[in-house]
Amino acid sequence: MRVIKAANYEEVSRRAAMLIAAQVLIKPNAVLGLATGSSPIGTYQNLVAWHRAGDLDFSGVTSVNLDEYVGLDGTNDQSYRYFMNEHLFSHINIPMERTHVPNGLAADIAAEGAAYDAMIAALGGIDLQLLGIGNNGHVGFNEPADVFTEETHLVDLKEDTIEANARFFASRDEVPKRALTMGLGGIMRAKKILLIANGEAKARIIDKAVNGPVTPQIPASILQLHPDCTIIYSEC
Ligand code: GLP
Repeated sequence: MRVIKAANYEEVSRRAAMLIAAQVLIKPNAVLGLATGSSPIGTYQNLVAWHRAGDLDFSGVTSVNLDEYVGLDGTNDQSYRYFMNEHLFSHINIPMERTHVPNGLAADIAAEGAAYDAMIAALGGIDLQLLGIGNNGHVGFNEPADVFTEETHLVDLKEDTIEANARFFASRDEVPKRALTMGLGGIMRAKKILLIANGEAKARIIDKAVNGPVTPQIPASILQLHPDCTIIYSEC
């Protein structure tokens, strides 16, 4: 595990974007695993800027996102599909049909999860998975639990996650209570992992995830077992 402490959000974003850009330059048909939340916004801004400058071509890239709220469709401005279109996909030349986000409206969520994992396998797996981290150590929406869940699955969001994500909604009541998330098996199967985080609370949970025991109570701690994981964080 490589742990890089950066000075601030801008540096985290720039370094993370450099690693993603390197992946795309090395393998123009890379499969990128992407994340939402406030953490990756600066990373995506850099990628968009480098694309606009003519330095980065996403025409061969395929993307798979980690998670989606249950019950929100892609036109809802709080959905993760909407977020990805707004912050990245609409500003680069990735073919929209090769951008994948779990379908939070699927009638059969279990079948959607299995199909999502099969789709990733058929793509040959994820070359580089970008992750944020929740204050409670969740990755994607894999919440603290008694076991690590391997496959893409339905989760009931923890109260602290609903609380943390309420800032993006008009009111706390509007935050969906359930989500569909790639499992920890799917994340761990990625060839490379890049986790980014900012702020004191995130620095504390990263310390536990990196230096504490590997436990499903801190889902990100499983990354200690990944052969090629980079964490870039800053305390502010
Ligand atoms: C959500 C997402 C995670 C993300 C986390 C942290 O719960 N499902 O993928 O890492 O929020 O978000 P932020 O970066 O806004 O702190």
